[in-house]
Amino acid sequence: MSAPQKYIGAAVSRVDGHAKVTGQAKYAAEFNVPGLAYGSVVTSTITKGRMTRIDTSEALGVDGVIDILTHQNRPSMADSDEAYADDTAPEGKPYRPLYDDRILFNGQPVALVMAETSETARFAASLVRVDYEEEPHETDVFAQRDKAIPLPHADKTPTSDFAPPKTRGNPDKAFAAAPVRHSGEYFVPIEHHNPMELYASTVVWEGGGKLTVYDKTQGVQNVQRYVCNVFNLKPEDVRVMSAFMGGGFGSGLRPNYEVVLAVLAAQALKRSVRIVLRRSQLYQLGYRPAMIQKIDIGAKDDGSLESIAHDATTVTSQYEDFHRQETGWSGLLYTCPNAKYAHKLAKLDLPTACDMRAPSAAPGVYALECAMDELAVALKLDPVELRLRCYSDHDQHENVPYSSKNLRACYEEGAAAFGWAGRNPEPGSMQEGHERIGWGMATGIWEALQVPIAVRISLSANGNAEVSCATSDIGTGTYTIMAQVAADMLGLPIEHITVRLGDSSLPQSPVEGGSWIAASVSHGIITTAEAIRDKLLQLAQQMPNSSLAGIQADDVTLADGHLVSKADASRRVSIIDAMRHGKLDRIEELKTTKFAPDLSKAHKTHSAIFAEVRVDEQIGIIRVTRVVSAVAAGRILNLKTARSQIMGGVVWGIGMALHEETLIDHKFGRIMNANIAEYHVPVHADIHDIQVIFVDEADPTINRLGIKGLGEIGIVGVAAAVANAVYHATGKRVRDLPITLDKLQR
Ligand code: MOS
Repeated sequence: MSAPQKYIGAAVSRVDGHAKVTGQAKYAAEFNVPGLAYGSVVTSTITKGRMTRIDTSEALGVDGVIDILTHQNRPSMADSDEAYADDTAPEGKPYRPLYDDRILFNGQPVALVMAETSETARFAASLVRVDYEEEPHETDVFAQRDKAIPLPHADKTPTSDFAPPKTRGNPDKAFAAAPVRHSGEYFVPIEHHNPMELYASTVVWEGGGKLTVYDKTQGVQNVQRYVCNVFNLKPEDVRVMSAFMGGGFGSGLRPNYEVVLAVLAAQALKRSVRIVLRRSQLYQLGYRPAMIQKIDIGAKDDGSLESIAHDATTVTSQYEDFHRQETGWSGLLYTCPNAKYAHKLAKLDLPTACDMRAPSAAPGVYALECAMDELAVALKLDPVELRLRCYSDHDQHENVPYSSKNLRACYEEGAAAFGWAGRNPEPGSMQEGHERIGWGMATGIWEALQVPIAVRISLSANGNAEVSCATSDIGTGTYTIMAQVAADMLGLPIEHITVRLGDSSLPQSPVEGGSWIAASVSHGIITTAEAIRDKLLQLAQQMPNSSLAGIQADDVTLADGHLVSKADASRRVSIIDAMRHGKLDRIEELKTTKFAPDLSKAHKTHSAIFAEVRVDEQIGIIRVTRVVSAVAAGRILNLKTARSQIMGGVVWGIGMALHEETLIDHKFGRIMNANIAEYHVPVHADIHDIQVIFVDEADPTINRLGIKGLGEIGIVGVAAAVANAVYHATGKRVRDLPITLDKLQR
């Protein structure tokens, strides 16, 4: 139904904003129940080996300590790898928290102290003594580089297992013959997500074997299935809730260990338990894998590409093979007849790497877009002009057209807004006072994915509707866009819509990630709203002398509290009258929406990023004074939340370029900066002018509203634009992130 769109596309303020700023929105660690016990996690101080003895006597002697759990005295847990493999687990043998005496990484949980207050638990945790038998470890990707292993199933057709795309043409020959060539090695270090909200779990012991679990997660049903499998519990006995989330960015796609420990403790004590991880403990969950990348590009003198080769080594644990299609973006983005990819995994004594905002694209496109900038310099071509000369309207891997791709408008509108035409291409040529000015740009690309999802709508005769789905709102605005779409599709004021999500008992949803929820849940709402309309029309047509008699459902829309003929607005019946006539005070529908895969087209979002840096001549301090990000992502559902998404991505891209780096002391295998004082992220003073542009991009085939999704595209390309601007300012090419001032001096 093409209902009048009053809310879709508008800059609607967050419907959950009031609850958040007034503290009514409750997070996982804020649910209080009588008799709550508090857990504090003891973590390993070695990196590899096994525990030989755990001495809990002193800790147990502390007043207020209830008990201490270790692998030796915990309640029983599943003993098969399948039980620990959640919906998003990579291949391998998933980590089992508190399972046995093995130590797989530094900071691994080894004991849980449970006490009457969190302070007591934390103090007592400091008194638990563990003896170890240490084994040699390796945590340095460069040391392990030569021993990196090929991806599992790299020979298979690239599908869900993220194998690199197949070789195209004869890249070696084409590269050797290319008149202009660039080869470069680029490095992105391990980075962490650093969400504001700490990982936490409050497990409410309901009695009768039932548990209500308030856990910080991007997928309540994923955690629910996982907990049931690990503890052999019945699905109806475990309800997982995560109505609000203070930042996830991919760190909450997989269940984290706090939920296992909290359920273990609740079972051991037969009472409710809360565990809040400490800030430092968040650094022993997942991370963005470090990535060593080599890029070889060959071009003709006119700037048309001849060959691209992208070779990557990424980091994972010894026990699971996490990776994404890190290299595949390179041969996809630009017209290039020859391309090849190689990807290896360096297995280290660390926890398994995981998704972090735009996994694979943020680091992979960073390298590609710096290499393109270096090629533009070699060709003496403007970097935008180079990209226009190899612009591609086809997916190079599948040789199919895009359902929509208005990247051209991103270049044009972004360049115009930035003032790119005024750029002097000579590095170091632009200066103001003691600062050299640099202008750089890059392209961004991400997937436009859609996933099966179920939505329930319950419409009351008083004109209020409840819309529910087990998806999450990880801070991105899902509550708001769901309310907008439902209000338009049901023809009700947005104030009459209540959205429920983040509860495993609600209709089926996959994890919120991959930028796929906005398009998916919007269409879930459309499908279910149409079922509501159909039922209302049946009722309306049963009314005596119904003005909608004989009309087809598709010719009717819901607007202003009425069923209305699309052709003749005078033919209308009020929803209240129809429901009263049918003697109903509520209509409820639950529908699942699936998206037929359209393999005849490729579906991506794109962006062009323009960045200005100012670099202090003497000490090398870099300020990113202006960024313009022009984004092509189909129809924008909400200009306000969409702009915030992109701005957040740009801020993070600045962090990736200049600040972020997880530092490991390889002698001990221990992270040295496991706190946000020493793990640097951009602070307010680092962020200046950021302008977001959404270019027009109509997509008539991807889905009915032409929506693509915006969660990740904002960060992709930003680090390259900044790095390229630093080169333009200084003439110095730093290829290993972050670009700190010492690297500018060397
Ligand atoms: Mo996103 S890294 O898919 O949460």
